[in-house]
Amino acid sequence: MEILRTVHELRQWARADRSEGNTIGIVPTMGALHAGHASLIRAANSQCGFVAVSIFVNPTQFGPNEDYSRYPRTFEADCALAKAEGASVVFAPSVEELYPADAATFVEVEGLSNRLDGASRPGHFRGVATVVSKLLIATEADLAFFGQKDAAQVAVLRRMVTDLRLPAKIVVCPIVREPDGLALSSRNVYLSAAERAQALALSRAIRRVESMVAAGVRSRGVLIDAAHEIFASEPAIRVDYVELVDWDTLLPVETAMPGMLFPVAAWVGSTRLIDNTVIA
Ligand code: PAJ
Repeated sequence: MEILRTVHELRQWARADRSEGNTIGIVPTMGALHAGHASLIRAANSQCGFVAVSIFVNPTQFGPNEDYSRYPRTFEADCALAKAEGASVVFAPSVEELYPADAATFVEVEGLSNRLDGASRPGHFRGVATVVSKLLIATEADLAFFGQKDAAQVAVLRRMVTDLRLPAKIVVCPIVREPDGLALSSRNVYLSAAERAQALALSRAIRRVESMVAAGVRSRGVLIDAAHEIFASEPAIRVDYVELVDWDTLLPVETAMPGMLFPVAAWVGSTRLIDNTVIA
């Protein structure tokens, strides 16, 4: 497995494999890889002859008071995991490689970018859309793999790919969880033992909503109240949002229909965590 540092190299490698008839897949990540990332790489490996895993802590998607500088960086272990899951190359550029000093070009998905996580993290989705468009353009990827865990991100990137007429098809992979339900996240390492226990309120709220939907409850108000009730049992948690939205527009809906999204976000201490379920 090769480690590539420049966009030029990545493009050359992807083109060479394409000319041999391989499907080109990309798995964008910020590193600190866990079993959730591994599931994406595995899915990519099963569907693509060439799999690029990008590892890049993207500065433009972090707010000024967020965790860019302390974001976990575990490059050696990440490369070992990527290799074990079948990556063809790891793409690990410098900040200067992706953002030349005078970079003035950004990708803004209007509307969507200000909803859910975008509402509490201004500029976040502009950074995400910008870096992912660079990766998709560099690889000319056929398939790009993302986790349902970041469901608003999926909505923003689907819109972007459609609007820019990029050739990539977005593949969404299921949320990988710890045995007790907590969704895997690179940020879980920030949690103290007490916070780790409190954080279970997110997956408990999601499970409660899933079972209510399975029992036929479809009303926005009833589902949202039920989730808030679970969060209320953990007073140390500060809820950011509990929503029922159309997954394409991220706008609120009144009735839970199949394919719609029930996302939650909450602060556990100084760590912001998210989780969601897609209505069955
Ligand atoms: P990162 O948080 O590293 O996540 C990379 C990919 O892994 C995302 O598509 C995310 O949804 C997926 N992922 C994370 N936790 C998961 C879990 N528990 N189960 C399944 N998939 C999971 O998301 C980003 O990086 C960045 O915004 C990025 C797209 C790389 C742009 O910088």
